[in-house]
Amino acid sequence: MNPVNHVAIIMDGNGRWGIKHKQSRNAGHKVGLNTVQMVINQCINQKIKYLTLYTFSSENWKRPKNEIIFLFNLLENFLRKKINKLIKSDIKLKFIGELNKLPIKLQTLIRLSEKKTKNNNSLQVNIALNYGSKNELINSIKMIKLKKILLNEVNIDNNLYTKNIPNPELLIRTGNTQRLSNFLLWQLAYTEIFFEKKLWPDFSDKDFKRILNKFKNIKRNFGSI
Ligand code: IPE
Ligand code: IPE
Ligand code: MG
Repeated sequence: MNPVNHVAIIMDGNGRWGIKHKQSRNAGHKVGLNTVQMVINQCINQKIKYLTLYTFSSENWKRPKNEIIFLFNLLENFLRKKINKLIKSDIKLKFIGELNKLPIKLQTLIRLSEKKTKNNNSLQVNIALNYGSKNELINSIKMIKLKKILLNEVNIDNNLYTKNIPNPELLIRTGNTQRLSNFLLWQLAYTEIFFEKKLWPDFSDKDFKRILNKFKNIKRNFGSI
């Protein structure tokens, strides 16, 4: 049985869910938050130590302004409303991405949320926000040059946003789309990938458990036989 320590998720399909239900794309984002809560609860139940959620990509700035603002407001409200519950559940929050490009108010809240949860350790939830994998890699290599250290695998790892976080064993992408969209390209080198047809708001605890069970029985070769 393969152990699961780190699950990464590309939470895709909110916009289509909203339209499908004769509502706005933004309504889909709001309902998608329920699935986030479900996945967090499941990770705690299953004793998974790391959960990484793709929340806003460095390419998502191409979206209409009203949708971008809605997404940031949604995250802000989530952090404000849920922070005490997260602390109680012993959850540590970590944000990965180019955070200094985000609205100042959100940056302040991010720092506060990280600070308030920094000593928790049942589950670490990494929120990828204004995250782009290619840029993360370029920055890592720039840091290596600046520090005048060897360009090798360990040093690249140690200069990524995900420093000290083990690579995900499992990646799930909902929304019936089979691509990585600039997410954790380096870290996913040996990850098992599950592409799910369901849109993110429809993704259920049953679906999550089915994937975890399937993952546990995969023969992971890592190049061996
Ligand atoms: C959520 O899904 C991902 C985010 C960028 C927040 P989408 O908003 O991409 O939904 P679809 O793919 O357009 O349906
Ligand atoms: C990836 O979804 C980003 C997030 C889930 C935050 P997108 O919907 O932005 O991906 P593309 O543009 O379809 O590849
Ligand atoms: Mg999408």
